Amino acid sequence: MAPCRPGSRSFVVPWAATLLLALGAERALALPEICMLCPGSVRDLSQVTLYCKQTPELMLHSRCCLNQEGTIVGLDLQNCSLKDPGPNFPQAHTAVIIDLQANPLKDDFAKTFRGFTQLQTLILPQDVSCPGGINAWNTVTFYKNNQTCQGQRNLCNSTGDQEMCPENGSCVPDGPGLMECVCADGFHGYKCMRQGSFSLVMFFGILGSTTLFISILLWGTQRRKAKTP
Ligand SMILES: *[C@@H]1O[C@H](CO)[C@@H](O)[C@H](O)[C@H]1NC(C)=O
Ligand SMILES: *[C@@H]1O[C@H](CO)[C@@H](O)[C@H](O)[C@H]1NC(C)=O
Ligand SMILES: *[C@@H]1O[C@H](CO)[C@@H](O)[C@H](O)[C@H]1NC(C)=O
Ligand SMILES: *[C@@H]1O[C@H](CO)[C@@H](O)[C@H](O)[C@H]1NC(C)=O
Repeated sequence: MAPCRPGSRSFVVPWAATLLLALGAERALALPEICMLCPGSVRDLSQVTLYCKQTPELMLHSRCCLNQEGTIVGLDLQNCSLKDPGPNFPQAHTAVIIDLQANPLKDDFAKTFRGFTQLQTLILPQDVSCPGGINAWNTVTFYKNNQTCQGQRNLCNSTGDQEMCPENGSCVPDGPGLMECVCADGFHGYKCMRQGSFSLVMFFGILGSTTLFISILLWGTQRRKAKTP
């Protein structure tokens, strides 16, 4: 039976090669939709291109800068007639740099950036405010045709865990100007007061510290209202 082996191996090898090729092609095609939202590729002189070329492991694909795992680290959607970044925008929540300049964006898209905790540089049209407001960023710079929001601040530090979160919860950043309370292990439910097997139950996401205080105020009055018959 031994002479049969080389023959069967040579039959297997092309199959394996075909399979590997097919897998490779599939991987190359699996570009997130947000990278193809705008036609063409990133311009040579864009900040996203400069950022991507600084690190050899990063690669430009359509409008994205991707790392070796295919995770988006940069996104350039400039000059593409966008009124809003669209439903696939959350795919870019891992991005460190995003360029949205030269688009007719509406100025109410702060919630769009929920979960964008890695974002350090955001380039916007001049008439759109940085998401989360000026306090959510270390530096906001205005130029003639754009503005940059640089260095996302951790609002959990300035507001303080104690004031914002209940005893058995802790504050975690959730994007520019956004934070949420996460219940400690073994706690869940409203104000993390229930003890049980559920962990990481998020019960409170807020938009900036102003909203926090308003929420607490509203919560307080509604609670009082609910109590009076
Ligand atoms: C924006 O795109 C248009 C074509 O779509 C081009 O003519 C124009 O020069 C671009 N503007 C900038 C600032 O890149
Ligand atoms: C912002 O616009 C200015 C022109 O006003 C331009 O020189 C600069 O490169 C732009 N910044 C970015 C980050 O594209
Ligand atoms: C937040 O505070 C911790 C220590 O309290 C510090 O290590 C961390 O660098 C601070 N983060 C920011 C973004 O200020
Ligand atoms: C928080 O947890 C401790 C035990 O770890 C418990 O004694 C305390 O009552 C809890 N606080 C609240 C508000 O549920």
